[in-house]
Amino acid sequence: MADFMELVRTRRSIRKFTEEEVTSEQLNTVLEAARWTPSWANTQCWEIISVTRQDLKESLQQTLVKGNPASKALVQAPVVLVLCGRLKTAGYYKGEVTTKFGDWFLFDLGLVSQSICLAAHSIGLGSVIVGLFDHDGAARVLDVPEGNELVALIPLGHPAQEPKTPERRSIEDFTHSETW
Ligand SMILES: Cc1cc2nc3c(=O)[nH]c(=O)nc-3n(C[C@H](O)[C@H](O)[C@H](O)COP(=O)(O)O)c2cc1C
Repeated sequence: MADFMELVRTRRSIRKFTEEEVTSEQLNTVLEAARWTPSWANTQCWEIISVTRQDLKESLQQTLVKGNPASKALVQAPVVLVLCGRLKTAGYYKGEVTTKFGDWFLFDLGLVSQSICLAAHSIGLGSVIVGLFDHDGAARVLDVPEGNELVALIPLGHPAQEPKTPERRSIEDFTHSETW
């Protein structure tokens, strides 16, 4: 198991994949990481669709906004994990919102995404979180039922590139001491 800080630092968005399959054991490792992700009151609002059928991957690709750099990844990757969220769960208590932010499903799905991408990286797989597409169109392709939102697509496979590391803000730039 790789060192955690090393994993966090070296994970990159992978948009080119080899033809090598993802084994069911590898997929299980990634989903196990999703399973142990923290969530609002442990509500675990996520639903994850694993897509391997080429026709479905192509239909999902059609929903991407033109120029999305992850377009090829969507059909090249052997597996596309599709992250959906059950609505009115995270951030709710007895059917009522509890904070000014309303539904927290996006927050919990963000955490799940990070678990998935880091777990994938820890076993040598590459991934990219894709958020820029027609969400309703993609939900229709996969028959996502009402009361759920399809939020992100995560192509997953064996990396065929070593992307440059995009710059990050320095700690000093985003931290505040005591008050803002
Ligand atoms: C919520 C979210 C949505 C994203 N959507 C896309 C996308 O639609 N297409 C894409 O190519 N990359 C997408 N990315 C990947 C980011 O561009 C990438 O994480 C960022 O540039 C930093 O690069 P790194 O992941 O290699 O460190 C998304 C990332 C996040 C967290």
